[in-house]
Amino acid sequence: MKQIKNKTLLASVLTDGKGLQVFNPFDNSLIATIPVSCQSRVEQDVLDLDIGQKVWQKMPAAERCHLLKKWNQLILENEDDLARLITLEGGKPLKEALGEVRYGASFIEWFAEEGRRAYGSTIPSPSNDRTLLTVKQAIGVAAAITPWNFPLAMITRKAAPALAAGCSFICKPSESTPLTAFAVTELAYQAGIPKDVLRMVMGENAHDVGEVFTYHSSVRKFSFTGSTLVGRKLQMQCASTIKRTSMELGGNAPFIVFDDADIDSAIEGAMASKFRNAGQTCVCANRFYVQDAVYDEFVEKLVIAVDKLKVGNGLDEDTNIGPLISMEAKQRVLDLIEEAKGRGAKQVNREQKLGGQFVAPTVLVDVEHDRPLVQGEIFGPVLPIIRFHDEETMIDMANDTIYGLASYFYSQDMNRIWRVAHRLEYGMVGVNEGVISTEVAPFGGVKQSGNGREGAKEGLEEYLETKYVCIGGLER
Ligand code: SIN
Repeated sequence: MKQIKNKTLLASVLTDGKGLQVFNPFDNSLIATIPVSCQSRVEQDVLDLDIGQKVWQKMPAAERCHLLKKWNQLILENEDDLARLITLEGGKPLKEALGEVRYGASFIEWFAEEGRRAYGSTIPSPSNDRTLLTVKQAIGVAAAITPWNFPLAMITRKAAPALAAGCSFICKPSESTPLTAFAVTELAYQAGIPKDVLRMVMGENAHDVGEVFTYHSSVRKFSFTGSTLVGRKLQMQCASTIKRTSMELGGNAPFIVFDDADIDSAIEGAMASKFRNAGQTCVCANRFYVQDAVYDEFVEKLVIAVDKLKVGNGLDEDTNIGPLISMEAKQRVLDLIEEAKGRGAKQVNREQKLGGQFVAPTVLVDVEHDRPLVQGEIFGPVLPIIRFHDEETMIDMANDTIYGLASYFYSQDMNRIWRVAHRLEYGMVGVNEGVISTEVAPFGGVKQSGNGREGAKEGLEEYLETKYVCIGGLER
C-alpha cells in the first residue's frame, strides 16, 4: 500500500491480517487484508439504509446534486491513487485504469445533473372535475453486486443514479477488487454523503450477502453486473419480493467487417474493442466475421498490430495487456483455445507461452462457428476470425446466440449501415467504432444479456417509481 499517497482512502478498512486477503494478479503477492461482515451485520446495514433513505429522499434534489458533484471532484483529485489501486488489485494497465477513474466519475457528474430533472407529467383529464398527474419518487433502498473488471466505474454507474434519485445504496464489490470500492466510498463520505445512505459491504461469503440483497423485503431495487449464469439465479431470488431489477449480464459481441469497410479503421476498432482490459469486458468484441474480399488484408494487418502488443505488469508504462484476474480465468481461456485448435483452428500470430496469470494475445483463423470459443464469452485476449460471403447469412450468424449486449460492424455504405444496425438483435450497436460506452448513452442488453439500462436518462429511471395522482372533486 506504499504506492497510495492519500492514506485516508483505506484507513478505515485495512486490518492487520484478519479477514479477506486481496492479491495482486501480476505476481499473486498479498496487497492488503480487509474486514468481512456476517449475514446479520449486512441485514442491519439494510435496516440502517432504510431509515437513512427516508431522510435522503426529502432532501431537495439540488442539495443531493451538490454532494454528488463534490464526490465527483474528490474522485478526480485522487485519480492517480485510485488508478494505482485498480491496477494493483485488478491488473489492468495504469493508463486504462486512469481512464476508468474518469469514466466512473463521469457517471456521478451526469446523474448529479439528471437528478434535478426527474420530471413527472400532467395528463389531459377525461373529465372536468379531475386533474391527473404523475410524480417521480425514489424506489427506496437499492442494493448492488458489482464485478472486478471495472472495480470503480461499475459502482458509480449504479450508485450515482440511485443517490441522485433519492434512493439509499448498498453494494458488495468483487472479492478480487474491494480496495477501490472502499476507497471510492470513503471519498463519498468525505464529500458529505451520509453513512446511512451509502454503504459498501464485504461478506464472510458472497452467497450470504446475495441472499440479504435479493430476499430482504426492505431492498426494493437490485442491480447486478456479472455473468448470465449468476444473474439468472439472483433474478429468481428477487422474484420472491417482486423487486425491480437491472441485470447487466454476459455478452458475445460480433465484430463484422464488410467488404466496403475502411480496413485501417476496422483494425483500430478491433484492437480497442478486443484488448480493453485484456479482453475482460462484457462488451469486448468476442467473434470476428470478415467478408471474402477484405479477409486477407484484414488478417494480415491485424496480426502486425497484435504482435506489437506488450504483455506485462500494469504498472509499467509500456504495458498494453495485463494479467487475467485469476489462474482459473487463465486456464478457462487456454482450454477454449486448445479446444478450437483441436477442431482445425490455426493461430496466425506469434505464439508465446507465458507464466503467471498472463495469456498472450492470440489470433485464430479457420474457427468453426459452433465452437465454445465463438458461442460463449471468452473474457481473454483471443480473437477468433470467421470468413463470410453474404450479408444475410452474416446477420443470422450474428443473431444466433442467447446474448444481446454489444455488437460492432464496419461499413461505408449508408444503406447497409441503417439496414444492419436495425437488424442486429443487440442492446448496443457500434458502427465504425470499437468502443462506444459513455455516461450519456444507455448501456444494456437484450435477450439473456439482461434487462435495464445504465447511464443516460434511462439510467435514472431505473431508480424511480412513477406515481399517478388523481385529484378529484374539482370545479372548473
Ligand atoms: C462491462 O464490461 O461490464 C462494462 C464495460 C463498459 O462500461 O464499457
